[in-house]
Amino acid sequence: MENTPVLEQFVKRCKQAVASDRAREDITTVMHALFEDPATLAATIPRFREDEVATSPRGFRLGGEHICHRSPELTVMVLDTLPGVVQPPHDHNMIAMIGVFEGCEQQRFWARTADGITATTGRLLEAGEVMVLGEQAIHAISAPDHAPARAIHVYLGDINNVERSILDPDTLDEHPMTSERYDEFCRPA
Ligand SMILES: [Fe+2]
Repeated sequence: MENTPVLEQFVKRCKQAVASDRAREDITTVMHALFEDPATLAATIPRFREDEVATSPRGFRLGGEHICHRSPELTVMVLDTLPGVVQPPHDHNMIAMIGVFEGCEQQRFWARTADGITATTGRLLEAGEVMVLGEQAIHAISAPDHAPARAIHVYLGDINNVERSILDPDTLDEHPMTSERYDEFCRPA
């Protein structure tokens, strides 16, 4: 996939927001406007071809990923989430904003408490909805059985170059995030 004009324009608005001191607020505003009509947005973003969706060493197919923009201050990506995999809990160590334009993401959340990491209430993030996750948020994503989720994920930093954590889904033990551990901690749905 390549950046479409709509994605190029969105990245431009995000870069302008990051240059201000109101990045979180401004990008949230831009995303709410962009996702108001999710079907129209979906029509502008091509689907990933089969050969663009990687199969992990352990055999999981999580969904396509297209990096629209990556810099130390900002990452913007189109991300599909395929049914059939329960992806592991992780944090980002930076603010994340997610907008779904087709299907829905099953979001699960955990919180750091005095007693350790505990599960909190999850939610479905449906087409047209935008969600902001704080820097310390811990979440996990999966797609419901019936349909993949197609979404834009925005991070206020370089999500592929930051120290962050992944949790063992069985014990909630915390480990440094690596792609190998992500794969190890995925579970069949
Ligand atoms: Fe995440």
